[in-house]
Amino acid sequence: MSAAAVALGSGVPAAARTGGDRVPPDPFRLGVASGDPEPTSVVLWTRLAPDALAPDGHGGMPGRAVDVHYEVAEDERFSRVVRRGRAVATAELAHSVHPEVEGLRPGREYFYRFRAGGEISPAGRTRTAPGPRERVDRLSFATASCQAWYHGHFTAYRHLAEEDLDLVFFLGDYIYEYAINSGNLWRHGVELGPAHDATVRTLEQYRLRYSLFKTDPHLRRAHARAPWVSTWDDHEVQNNYADAHSQYGISIEDFERQRAVAYRAYYENMPLRRSSIPDGPDMRLYRRLAWGRLADVHVLDTRQYRDDFPEDSGAGGEHTDPDRSILGERQERWLTEGLRRSGATWNVLAQQVVMAQIDRDTGPGRTFSMDQWDGFTANRDRLFDAVRRFGIDNLVVLTGDIHRHVAAELKADFTDPDSATIGTELVASSVGSDGDGAPTDRYTELWLSNPHVRFYDGRRGYVLATMTPERLTSEFKVVDHVERDDTAAVSTVARFVTEAGRPGLKREA
Ligand SMILES: [Fe+2]
Repeated sequence: MSAAAVALGSGVPAAARTGGDRVPPDPFRLGVASGDPEPTSVVLWTRLAPDALAPDGHGGMPGRAVDVHYEVAEDERFSRVVRRGRAVATAELAHSVHPEVEGLRPGREYFYRFRAGGEISPAGRTRTAPGPRERVDRLSFATASCQAWYHGHFTAYRHLAEEDLDLVFFLGDYIYEYAINSGNLWRHGVELGPAHDATVRTLEQYRLRYSLFKTDPHLRRAHARAPWVSTWDDHEVQNNYADAHSQYGISIEDFERQRAVAYRAYYENMPLRRSSIPDGPDMRLYRRLAWGRLADVHVLDTRQYRDDFPEDSGAGGEHTDPDRSILGERQERWLTEGLRRSGATWNVLAQQVVMAQIDRDTGPGRTFSMDQWDGFTANRDRLFDAVRRFGIDNLVVLTGDIHRHVAAELKADFTDPDSATIGTELVASSVGSDGDGAPTDRYTELWLSNPHVRFYDGRRGYVLATMTPERLTSEFKVVDHVERDDTAAVSTVARFVTEAGRPGLKREA
């Protein structure tokens, strides 16, 4: 970690000089969150922003540092407080704090809240992971992605927040960088000033974008309801970027500068541990967590280290180049090693872009998306080889990105439906992106013409999953509108079962 990263710090520097307790009224408008639970610790988050949409991105906070106190209790009324502490919210990190609370008991539910000045935050609920050797009966989680705030209300989160959840996986596109104006503002009932009608490039603009999206009350409730395990995709920086390569004619040098401020704003706004403090244009987001002996979760970053688009867009086969990687060499090695060592009932990859091969030509031709794993076939082959070599029969891939619900089987040979099934891929539709949507749309046929794709739905929603030592049950949840208002009911449009040790999908409903 560089000196700059240390100076940005997220902990509690012992001798920190702060402005003490003076804070403008109502500083907790962006909510509270927790994340990345371990058996005895969890990271908490809040960011002070009394004037959340102040155009300068500072959230109405003065330039000085402020003390933020937190407490963690066993009960919702905070009568059994088990930990108290202080974090320092600095202007350098947009007055966010990320205290890592230690000394908790494994597999327990906790409640937390913050205090700054005389103000007390709403309470959040979180939980610790079970002990490393524990036999665990059940892990209940939801997956979500792609929350273009301007396309619709976050009604999906309204319902997600009512579920009984141990974890929420967020799989990318927490914000979008596009200018917001009458052309794309489909969310009824809001009016926006000119500060939002510009493509996001600067630190101040990224900060303001997070604040804007966090004005949705259902997003804040979803954060407060359960610990999140978050990863990003492209729109946290810029559409379809690849490592230091912008697709918009920006030089590598300029784009690295933009990536640095985008990554910094991401860290400031998410419940991430200090291991993710950015260092210039670099930020470590890939990481592992375990849920007792039930599940090992490998959280991937397929953006920061990937090779650029092939120059021939795949037509000449350059995308099958054996040197191409979507993970980058170090992350690939780290993942292979993690899979090799895993003794868990389930191995989960929480990641961004579709892994299954998807031929986008419904006729005799073959067309693939170069932005997904199809653009990096050698990397996918190496992963599948490792899965087979280590005898892994429990691979579950959690994906976002396409704004559609999709369930697919991952095949040893995608051109041969009878070939071995390597794993199971559950693609969560978007929370907001693409507005209302419909059960079927102009892409339905394309996706379902791939025989290993077992399900498709074009509405907004989330995936709810329950993992036990025997089986994984996944339910695809949808709401039928999001643009008009946030009143849509939720329904389960499909339910699948995957038996432990038998990758693939059995449809139940
Ligand atoms: Fe998206």
